[in-house]
Amino acid sequence: MGKNNFIVAIDGYAGSGKSTIAKEVAKRLNFFYLDTGAMYRALTYKIIKEKIDYQKEQELKKILKNLKIDFKKENKETKIYLNNEDVTDKIRAPKVEKLVSPISAIKIVREKMVKLQRKIAHQKSLIAEGRDITSIVFPKANLKIFVDCELKERAKRRFKEAKEKGYKVSFLKVLENLILRDKIDQEREHSPLRKTPDSIYLNTTNLTIEEEIDLVKSLIEYLLKKKK
Ligand code: DC
Repeated sequence: MGKNNFIVAIDGYAGSGKSTIAKEVAKRLNFFYLDTGAMYRALTYKIIKEKIDYQKEQELKKILKNLKIDFKKENKETKIYLNNEDVTDKIRAPKVEKLVSPISAIKIVREKMVKLQRKIAHQKSLIAEGRDITSIVFPKANLKIFVDCELKERAKRRFKEAKEKGYKVSFLKVLENLILRDKIDQEREHSPLRKTPDSIYLNTTNLTIEEEIDLVKSLIEYLLKKKK
């Protein structure tokens, strides 16, 4: 955190709405949007593509050493590049979704990602979202938010998204994946998902997307004014 930049850290469950909020508020305030989940997904995609046995530390180390992740703004959308390949859509595939939590529970994976995230964020005003942003990546952020939402509502949102992207998945499979991912993300040994005491709790179950965005945007604007 520097004198002239403003960092918003958001954590929360899968499908809680944190990505939608972060992406849209960042767009409206002209902040950089850092989707850290996309980075873990990109790594998972690479592991699947290259048929790496991620439980073998040597193989994993090699892949982490050569990992290059870039975010690029194209036509107002942020695209994610993995070693110069646009993987923005590919990382949303169900097979990536299935493996991403176990892979992101590994200590050396987390160490590498946190390093990359801080490097990408250097001196920028940004909104970063994920599972360990408020606790580990930016513990001194100017604003910290924990986003929650009822499980059934989260599953409905993710099911709708998957259908829109053309993936053939059942509602039950989506629900199962959410339950399993939340369990792994919260119970893992290294930087588990949790609400830090200084995070604002935001429950989006009964809010519209526009209401969520307005709320977070107003909070940031208020704090920005106070900071001046
Ligand atoms: O936010 P998402 O659904 O795209 O995240 C995918 C997975 O990546 C999530 O299940 C756990 C992992 N992740 C993490 O461990 N730490 C983060 N900061 C972000 C995501």
